[in-house]
Amino acid sequence: MRVGVLTGGGDCPGLNAVIRAVVRKGVQEYGYDFIGFRDGWRGPLENDTVPLDIRAVRGILPRGGTILGSSRTNPLKSEDGIRRVKETLVKEEVDALIAIGGEDTLGVAARLSGDYGIRCVGVPKTIDNDLSATDYTFGFDTAVNIATEAIDRLHTTAESHMRVLVVEVMGRHAGWIALHSGLAGGANVILIPEQRFDVDQICAWVESRFKIRYAPIVVVAEGAMPKDGDAVLKDDTLDSFGHVRLSGVGEWLAKQIEKRTGKEARTTVLGHVQRGGTPSAFDRWLATRFGLHAIDAVRDEDFGKMVALRGTDIVRVPLAEATARLKTVDPSLYAEAEVFFG
Ligand code: F6P
Repeated sequence: MRVGVLTGGGDCPGLNAVIRAVVRKGVQEYGYDFIGFRDGWRGPLENDTVPLDIRAVRGILPRGGTILGSSRTNPLKSEDGIRRVKETLVKEEVDALIAIGGEDTLGVAARLSGDYGIRCVGVPKTIDNDLSATDYTFGFDTAVNIATEAIDRLHTTAESHMRVLVVEVMGRHAGWIALHSGLAGGANVILIPEQRFDVDQICAWVESRFKIRYAPIVVVAEGAMPKDGDAVLKDDTLDSFGHVRLSGVGEWLAKQIEKRTGKEARTTVLGHVQRGGTPSAFDRWLATRFGLHAIDAVRDEDFGKMVALRGTDIVRVPLAEATARLKTVDPSLYAEAEVFFG
């Protein structure tokens, strides 16, 4: 059996751990051969490959990023994309494909296996943790740890200068990173895309914090929106998914807070720092287990499936189901955090 592996979409810590586990178990236990495709779906589309064997995966467990490279190329968007992908797989004698990715990459895998008979197994990844079929995705824990450490550091400088510090974290459609890091870091306000925020309410929380001689920390997810601020925050452009691009909610909010409270405010945008560097122990553990179970799905010829975490078990779910719905923060979970606001 010859197995192709690719990593698509935004990178995240833990991708290399999956690749290593897939190859180690596949070679050692099942005697399979592997081939890597470069830069997600661009690899099979353009027949750009890289050798993948035990040697290639040595020492990569703690390394961030992906040794295979990544891109957001979508073969379904080009006219002869499917034909070209199929041609490559035949030419390279690939019997099965493991696609490691988020909503977009797995959506392609779902179509290819459902409509075109390509034998795919999916592995979910995203720092945003917003895939509904799995309890957690690897990359999320690392991102939360990075954001929490940043919040811890910002507390001390905020207090030295008695300033408001606004921290913008990733999460276009779901506020998981904001909620988890905000709670772990003791933020005084947490703002998520699922719930529109009221700037006056935030200013009231900020002022109450100053009254007890503490400097407030506001954690805001990049996709969070004010109640009436669409015009201010919406960019004219659409991102590669056709979503309206939001720009600079953290910076915008800090200015509003300064204007309305007269307190000095600063913004820190954590951006891609949250996606870089070595994966946490939890993410290495989860990514490794996903890899081991993905190669087992190949062995069982259980194609059209994605591995997922349910409780402490790794299960297989249909790829189509995996990408059908975004997992957003439940209002009751968000309400729990509100006791710490202000
Ligand atoms: O989906 C993961 C993610 O990290 C989002 O949180 C973020 O909005 C986006 O990717 C950034 O994408 P890019 O690296 O393409 O700018």
